[in-house]
Amino acid sequence: KRVAILISGGGSNMVALVNSMIGDHPARPVVVISNDPNAGGLAKARDLGIATAFVDHREYPNDRNAFEEILHATLEGHNPDIVCLAGFMRILTEGFTARYEGRMLNIHPSLLPKYKGLHTHARALEAGDPEHGCSVHEVTAALDDGPVLGQARIAVEQNDTPETLASRLLPLEHELYPAVLRRFANGDRTPVRLPIMRSIP
Ligand code: GRF
Repeated sequence: KRVAILISGGGSNMVALVNSMIGDHPARPVVVISNDPNAGGLAKARDLGIATAFVDHREYPNDRNAFEEILHATLEGHNPDIVCLAGFMRILTEGFTARYEGRMLNIHPSLLPKYKGLHTHARALEAGDPEHGCSVHEVTAALDDGPVLGQARIAVEQNDTPETLASRLLPLEHELYPAVLRRFANGDRTPVRLPIMRSIP
């Protein structure tokens, strides 16, 4: 399976995904595309030997459809079977997501269906939740709303801040997303619940 990964920033989840697709893995990364030409993740992808591209959304300030047409054309140039959104911060219209129905994934830093949208860590703290976490879900028309394919949980500590929560969660994202992608690429939609038994190194 050919996997395209969309990023907006540092791309740490992209790096984890790329590094997981080795050996007998059913998928291979074919391109990393960013909406920001300055995204740090583009350099990381190049260092990993992955083709990169960018479609600067700022060039289409009043035309989301034009941005998405270029993004779609850029994606299709690499003929992906699966598209992974990884720290991708643009909202995609139904017109776009419909083209990737059933083969687009996203990682969201909350225990969906809780806290769709932004500022998830602050909202979990605000609510006094004892647990927080991240979710990988299939992308559908509604934001952060598709079937959940995996979750990882952390306990919220007494003096946590949004930053400390995010930093404790990120390594779990890097475990969860590759675990979900491996199953998904094998056509297996059994939800992943971390911690999964890690293979003895
Ligand atoms: C992560 O918290 C991820 O959950 C969210 O974007 C943040 C940065 O991701 N979607 P990355 O380091 O760019 O992969």
